[in-house]
Amino acid sequence: MKRLVFAANWKMNHGPTDAEAFMRSFLAHYPRRPDRTVLFFPPALTFATVQSAARGRSDIVLGVQNIHWEPKGAFTGEISAPIARDAGARMVLVGHSERRHLFGETDEQTGAKCAAAVRAGLTPVLCVGEKLEERERGQAESVVLRQLRAGLANLEAQHVSTMLFAYEPVWAIGTGRTATPEDASAMHAVIRSALRETVGERVTSLPILYGGSVNRGNAQAIVGARDVDGLLVGGASLDAEGWTAIVTA
Ligand code: PGA
Repeated sequence: MKRLVFAANWKMNHGPTDAEAFMRSFLAHYPRRPDRTVLFFPPALTFATVQSAARGRSDIVLGVQNIHWEPKGAFTGEISAPIARDAGARMVLVGHSERRHLFGETDEQTGAKCAAAVRAGLTPVLCVGEKLEERERGQAESVVLRQLRAGLANLEAQHVSTMLFAYEPVWAIGTGRTATPEDASAMHAVIRSALRETVGERVTSLPILYGGSVNRGNAQAIVGARDVDGLLVGGASLDAEGWTAIVTA
């Protein structure tokens, strides 16, 4: 049975109070399913609330939205991989398009962050995706492959084979414009074949999630597409009822 991954990226939404109400409703309506893992990436200050609500649910895994690549030091406002791990995070989003395009995160930094995550025992979820103008210029694949290689540049195959990946075309994030299931499948196949060069046949079990304007209306079609192993959802993961509908799609 293919175990699908449904990841909620709350971005800068939901403080502890909202998160507690969200989790109460979500957990009441979503019993554990053997064919699904649910990931939550809450804001750092909301992490402990989600963690304590989800205690005892091994099908629910928590991560942070970002880390610094240094393990500690004078970096006001930043969170390191060891701190995130100590707080109970198991995963971290690396290279999300908002980090890349709003905060100027470079390919090289994503590589450093993936390595820092692995060193601290966190699983990186490496996000890649092209901008609209790059797609229109026919550069979608080359951009995605460049981001992928840079993210993995400092890792051994044994680490890459435990990671998760997310294809999130920038033109589809928060815009209401979704890639078709065929667009998603096509790019996921490109990513998988590039990863095969590093990890060989273990690539078949690497989860590659799709993200970008996923909602309860399109989730089922996208997650059912070939080479799509799950979804990374922003806006539509913020309301407990809608998120429950997506996770049970
Ligand atoms: P969206 O965001 O679902 O709101 O488009 C997805 C993401 O950025 O991870």
